[in-house]
Amino acid sequence: MPEDFIVTPWEVTGEVDYDKLIVKFGTQKVTDEVLQRIEKHASPLHVMLRRGIFYSHRDMNWIIDQHEKGNTFFIYTGRGPSGSTHIGHLMPWILCKWLQDHFKNKFYFQLTDDEKFLFEEKKTLDETKKYAYDNALDIIALGFDPKLSHIFLDTEYIHNLYPIAVKVAKKITFSTVRAVFGFNQSMNVGSIFYTSMQAAPAFLGSVLEGRNVPCLIPCGIDQDPHFRIARDAAEKLGYFKPALLHNKLLPSLSGSGKMSSSIPGSSISTTDTEADIKKKINNAFTGGRVSVEEQRKLGGNPDVCAVYKYYLYMFIPDDKELQKRYDECRSGSIMCGECKQNLISLVWTFLKDHQEKREKAKDVLEEFMLRD
Ligand code: TRP
Repeated sequence: MPEDFIVTPWEVTGEVDYDKLIVKFGTQKVTDEVLQRIEKHASPLHVMLRRGIFYSHRDMNWIIDQHEKGNTFFIYTGRGPSGSTHIGHLMPWILCKWLQDHFKNKFYFQLTDDEKFLFEEKKTLDETKKYAYDNALDIIALGFDPKLSHIFLDTEYIHNLYPIAVKVAKKITFSTVRAVFGFNQSMNVGSIFYTSMQAAPAFLGSVLEGRNVPCLIPCGIDQDPHFRIARDAAEKLGYFKPALLHNKLLPSLSGSGKMSSSIPGSSISTTDTEADIKKKINNAFTGGRVSVEEQRKLGGNPDVCAVYKYYLYMFIPDDKELQKRYDECRSGSIMCGECKQNLISLVWTFLKDHQEKREKAKDVLEEFMLRD
């Protein structure tokens, strides 16, 4: 049966069935049991864990076992700098920051200027590098501990990454890469090698410390294929397999699918002005009815509404308040206009603060940069 959605590291389309994806990718569901184990060390649980936004994992039980034995993990995640950062990109980074607050982990952040250069035909390396430094400000703005947190660009930190990447590359065949990513014969050879670069930081913590250190990678579920390959290579190289914690992707404001930089207005950028946000949210896809009268009578449908998804994923962290909004929508006592105004004000409050922190990040950027 043909799938009606596609999720790969480079393409997310259609209405994603996240439960099906767990089966397809062979990951584990984040169960109440796993949540309780995390909560023992990090309480209260982060809202994105509580609400099942981080819903899938590989080896979380092992990561907690290791932590409980005194061998705590380092955290690794990354970003392909193809443009400005969107709110959806922040989700795994916010979880990393929360984990670091509770577990005191080292944190490594990879900016793949090479990836976006190789995979996006029109992008120059100068452009992706420029975006990498711009995106680094968003990471720092989230409040990571500068003593424990390290950011690097692939093309700049390559001296340390390359020896790891070639060791990984030697364990991966072309047929694996072709099968996992669906590449065809016309892909450039850099793209075929690239997954070794994304795997490398999963072992960087071990290489830098000269001993095996467990690694946890919080990331969008779309990135999992890279780490399936990395986990196979880990075994062959004598490293621990990296563990993963996957989030669902923040849906586009204009309907289903992941946020995409390619569709204007479908996502909110961290550098948007209040006017940009107003425009985007006012144009958002909602679960509203064709007329106010009908909506008063029949109520709206929050389950399909992009505005409601923003509340659920990030902007109404209080469960009672969220339930109240859900009920108000269902019963027809709140109209989409009012609901959108509310979201505009919540998003702008968040972004105004983020943008100030982003400005301040410019002064401390170098403290975070990992150099050869
Ligand atoms: N490929 C990712 C992207 O396009 C960037 C990335 C590199 C990443 N390393 C990662 C994402 C580790 C998650 C975890 O955004």
